[in-house]
Amino acid sequence: MLLAQVFPFGFEWIYEQDERVMLRTAAWRPSRFTALCLLAVALLGCSPEHYPQTTLLPRGDFARIADDLLDTTVRWALLVFVLVEGVLIYAIFRFRGKPGDPEPHQTHGNTTVEIIWTVIPALILAAIAVPTVRAIFQTNAIPAKDALTIEVVGHQWWWEFRYPEFNITTANEIHVPVGRTVSLRMASADVIHSFWVPQFAAKRDVFANRESRLWFKAEVAGEYPAQCAEFCGIQHGRMAYRIRAQGPEEFQAWVAHMQTLGPKSASGAAPTAAQKAVAAGVTTASQGATVQQPQAPAAQGPEYAAGEKLFTSKGCIGCHSLQAVNAPKGMVGPNLANVGARSYIAAGTLKNTDENLAHWIRDPQGIKKGVLMPNLGINETDAKALVAYLRAHQ
Ligand code: CUA
Repeated sequence: MLLAQVFPFGFEWIYEQDERVMLRTAAWRPSRFTALCLLAVALLGCSPEHYPQTTLLPRGDFARIADDLLDTTVRWALLVFVLVEGVLIYAIFRFRGKPGDPEPHQTHGNTTVEIIWTVIPALILAAIAVPTVRAIFQTNAIPAKDALTIEVVGHQWWWEFRYPEFNITTANEIHVPVGRTVSLRMASADVIHSFWVPQFAAKRDVFANRESRLWFKAEVAGEYPAQCAEFCGIQHGRMAYRIRAQGPEEFQAWVAHMQTLGPKSASGAAPTAAQKAVAAGVTTASQGATVQQPQAPAAQGPEYAAGEKLFTSKGCIGCHSLQAVNAPKGMVGPNLANVGARSYIAAGTLKNTDENLAHWIRDPQGIKKGVLMPNLGINETDAKALVAYLRAHQ
């Protein structure tokens, strides 16, 4: 019944063909054929290239294990489908009743056939179970000692990433080196979330009271979307993040750059390294190789200075840290040390343009209702100054 609803023309078509042969009246209706063609075209449109949040294009070893398992299962399913449907269609046409046929001979049960159709599925299930169990053990194994540990903390509704090996913290964009396994030690600051980087690893829930672990090794560099995969409140859908897989050198450059984003120096010229790089027109490491800095902001200009003051006077500083190094734990809002270089703001909600950032600063509740960041009644001029200040934090 359900199948008939999902594929109505399929069943109707078979029925129609049957009717046509029997009654020799109805002709083939081109509309059905057109519908099938359109469906085929529509399905072709579902190319994973255009929808990168897919598990069908694995970019890491963990995802490859899961994808291989899916392929194995689909191959078996396809084989069963073709055989069963083949026999069914053969039987439909070969033993079709004709008007005036006598009542067919009635039988009940056939032990041999029943044993065969019990044993075959059992063997197929066993053939699927063996690689499945192997994959479960593989993906739950403890990663090698040289893996890079990253601490992941889920918050309503953003992600915190800490790199104890480098003593740096960031948010909503996880940077990983290509070719080195990352070992994620994950927890939640509030409710249950689920960490999911579709092209690199499976989903794994994170909890407030216990640690979850996940590992994967990125194989292809690039920037990929990721998403919280466990309903965690009204803005669960806006708890997205990015994964930036970088070649070893690029990743090291990013780490080295992040390590310059420390506590404000006595001279008050933070963040100096980033500003120097920006002023020199250099593409900073946290932007990655693909994004060019549009223009050097007036790092110490009047807007920057005004923004710096506002960041404190408006209370932003109470929830957001601007240091990547020695970042305080337990902050309410995302770390903003390199916010100027991120592709998105508000956990994947908006592209990180000056316009969107100003909009966000002025009306977070309008954009992401329920988020912990309140509307602070910031006017347009102040928002512009804050944007100039934050944009310099690359
Ligand atoms: Cu966090 Cu859904």
